[in-house]
Amino acid sequence: MTRSTAKSRRLVFALAVSALAPVASAREAARDQAAIEAGEAVYNNYCQTCHGDRLVNTGQTFDLRRLTAGDRARFENSVRNGKSQMPPWKDVLSDEEIGQLWAYIRANANQK
Ligand code: HEC
Repeated sequence: MTRSTAKSRRLVFALAVSALAPVASAREAARDQAAIEAGEAVYNNYCQTCHGDRLVNTGQTFDLRRLTAGDRARFENSVRNGKSQMPPWKDVLSDEEIGQLWAYIRANANQK
């Protein structure tokens, strides 16, 4: 291989990588958006009656928008096992649905 072929190969590689990066991130964004929408549907089915329309709490229960990015483990534990007046959801919701709920809550959180 001549030096110039190696150089042009590197160039082609660099161009291919930089051309694919936005495609990958657009795909990721679309997947995130799909999870958020699925989470909204799960929320409306199972959580809205107690936690409020569009996560807006009426003061009787915990306001889910207060959960911060570091609260995922606490969220999963409370949702799976229940907490005081809240029933456990582990026999009702799949891990995927709980992940979708988290995506929806994080997308609407007070503190992103
Ligand atoms: C029957 C009413 C009811 C339903 C339905 C309900 N919750 Fe709750 N939830 C509560 C109450 C009441 C609390 C406050 C518990 C407490 O005293 O700390 C709570 C608290 C929480 C908390 C905070 C717990 C903590 O760590 O402090 C999370 C997270 C939560 N709920 C998520 C959900 C999700 C997700 C759903 C839907 C799958 C849901 N809840 C459905 C009543 C409900």
